[in-house]
Amino acid sequence: MVLALAPHDALAALDFQVAMGADEAIAEAPLDRYALSAALAEQKAAAPEARASARPKAAPPPPPPPRADPIGDARALAEAAATLEALHAALETFEHCDLKRGARSLVFCDGRPQARVMIVGEAPGRDEDIQGRPFVGRAGQLLDRMLAAIGLAREAADAESAVYITNILPWRPPQNRDPEPEEIAMLKPFVERHVELVAPDLLVLMGNISCQALLGRRGITRLRGTWTEALGRPAMPMFHPAYLLRNPAAKREAWADLLALKARLGKGAGK
Ligand code: URA
Repeated sequence: MVLALAPHDALAALDFQVAMGADEAIAEAPLDRYALSAALAEQKAAAPEARASARPKAAPPPPPPPRADPIGDARALAEAAATLEALHAALETFEHCDLKRGARSLVFCDGRPQARVMIVGEAPGRDEDIQGRPFVGRAGQLLDRMLAAIGLAREAADAESAVYITNILPWRPPQNRDPEPEEIAMLKPFVERHVELVAPDLLVLMGNISCQALLGRRGITRLRGTWTEALGRPAMPMFHPAYLLRNPAAKREAWADLLALKARLGKGAGK
C-alpha cells in the first residue's frame, strides 16, 4: 500500500527512520518485512514433511517367511495317502525331520499287511538303517523268537499267523538316541495313517516310546501286560526286546504278555 504523505509528514517519517539507524535506501519499491517473515515461518513449519518426502523412501520390510508347520504338513500328506505305497512315498517327500538327512534308509515296514497283529516299535537302529527293514538286529532276532513261540511270523502265509511291523520313527536317530518329542509329534500322523491303512485287529506297543506316542503315557513296567486301547484298537504294551536283552529276568513277564496276545487272537474274529 502506498501512503500519500504531506511533505512535512514525509520529512518527519524520514527523520524517524534516520534516528532508528536506517541510513541507506536499497530498493526502489518498499518491502513489507512483516509479510515476508510470516511466509518464512509458514515455510519452516512445512519443512519436515517436505524434507521427508524429498528423501528416498526406505524399502518396506520383507513379508515374514511362511510359518513352518511340520505337524500340519505331515497330517495333510498322510491323510492324502490312500494306500501303503502312497504313504511310503509321502514320507519320502517329507522334509521337516532332520533325522532323514542323517539316515541311510527310510525304514517303513516288514511283514504282511494282511496280518491281524501290528507291532509298533520305536525307531530303526544301525542294522535296520543299513538293511531298510525294522527289527533285524539283535533285538529283532529276539522278537522273531518271541513271536515264533506263540506261532507267529512276519512272513507267515496266512494272515492269522502273520505279523506286520513298523516303528514310530522311520529314520534312525543319531547314536540311537531317544526320539525328541517334536520328532514323535511330526511323524505321528504317518503312524496313525499307517495303522488305519493296515487296520489290524490288535496292536502291540513295544516299549516306552511307542506307548508315549500312541497312548500319551510312559512307564512300561506298569503299562505292560494290560490290554488298553490305541487309535481305537485293542493294544498290548510290552517290554521292548532290546530291554529284554539287557534284563533277561523280565522275559518272564514278556512271556505272559505273549500268551495274553495269543489268547486274544484265539478269541477274536478274523480280519
Ligand atoms: N528297535 C526298534 O524299536 N525298532 C527297530 O526297528 C529296531 C530296534
